[in-house]
Formats: sequence, C-alpha cells, structure tokens
Amino acid sequence: MAAVEKRLEMAWVLDNDLTDNVTHGICVSNLAFSMGRELGLSHEKCHELAVAGILHDIGKMKLSRYLHGRNEDTLGIEEMKYIRMHSQLSYDILKKHDYSEFILESILYHHENYDGTGYPNNLLGEKIPFGARIMRICDVFSALTSDRAYRQAFDKDTAVELMIDEVKNFDMRIFLTFLKVVNDENFNIERCYKPTVTRIENIRIDQPGYSLMVSESTGYVPV
Ligand SMILES: [Fe+2]
Repeated sequence: MAAVEKRLEMAWVLDNDLTDNVTHGICVSNLAFSMGRELGLSHEKCHELAVAGILHDIGKMKLSRYLHGRNEDTLGIEEMKYIRMHSQLSYDILKKHDYSEFILESILYHHENYDGTGYPNNLLGEKIPFGARIMRICDVFSALTSDRAYRQAFDKDTAVELMIDEVKNFDMRIFLTFLKVVNDENFNIERCYKPTVTRIENIRIDQPGYSLMVSESTGYVPV
C-alpha cells in the first residue's frame, strides 16, 4: 500500500475510534453525574464524576492503531493484554494534568469488579474506590446501549436485564441507585449521549499523526 493511502487509512481509523470514544465518554459522564446526585454527593463531587466519565477511556486512543475494528470476543491473549492496559494509560495521561485524586482513582479502577474479578488490580468490594464503582456501572450500561461492529445497541430494558445477570460485578447499593436513575420517568437515553454537564480544561494528547483537545463544555474536539 502506498504511504499516502496508509496514512489516510490510519486517519480514518483514528477518527472513527475518536467518535466512538467521545460518544461513550459523554454517556458515562452524564450518567455518572446523575448517579452522584441521586447518591446525595456534593455538586463538586458530581462534577468530578462527570469529568472522570468523559475521560475514563482516553488511554484507549493510544491503543487504537493496534485494536481498531476488533471485538472483545475475537481478541487473542496478547490483544486482551493491550486492552487491559487502557485504564492505567488513561491514569498516566491525566496524572500529568493535575486532575484530582478522586478523578484519577475513578478512572484507574473503572474495570474493577465488586467480586474481585476485574482489572488492573483485582480489587475486591469496598477496596475499589467509590467513584470507580459508580463508573463501572455507567460504563457497562453505555457499552450495552451503543452499537458495536458485531451487534446493534440493546434497548434500555434489555441492557438493565443483562446487567442484573452480572450484578456480582457491581456494588449493590450503587446499582440500586442506578436502577432508580434509569427507571425515572424523566430519564431519556438519547439525552444521555448529548454533552450537557462536562466542563473540562484543555488537555492535549500528542501522538504521531494526531492530537486531541478536550475543551470547555463541548467535550472532545479533534485538532
Ligand atoms: Fe474502559
């Protein structure tokens, strides 16, 4: 393949992954903010949850070129190892930008399961930071209600049923709060995917080929 074509293909890959990553981040952000409110957290903490939500998978952007277009069912062990690095990568990137410890921990541990089967550290129960336990639930719900290369998005009720089957992964008190939020008559899944609450200072992630800026109120803006 000619060098120019290869570059164009890579740009397409990155653009697509960026769009998916941003949309997912917005949903997790909005949901985490609502969960924080329902849990009676301070406005500041709710806002921190929203920031963690939009940025939690930012480390995946560093893995895009290796993993684009593959789904978790067909990944080999090596690729799974790469995927599992992303929460640490997100943490490492954001640590350099002075995000609060609460935000950083919520992000680093957002794939820990309540029963100790998650990653990166197999943390169990309340050893998992509180924000990360919220993030875990919002993350799974957003993943299930989004289209994937290998399946269409599940509707809200099916997603909730699937999550109940896997409830061992979640903190039950927080999960009950989640049910309250998504079953509220004002809950609107489309609105979940629109940027509303997040206000983030600038951050740049420079990589060969592209860079990314997260700007005030609008979410991610490719630059
Ligand atoms: Fe993640």
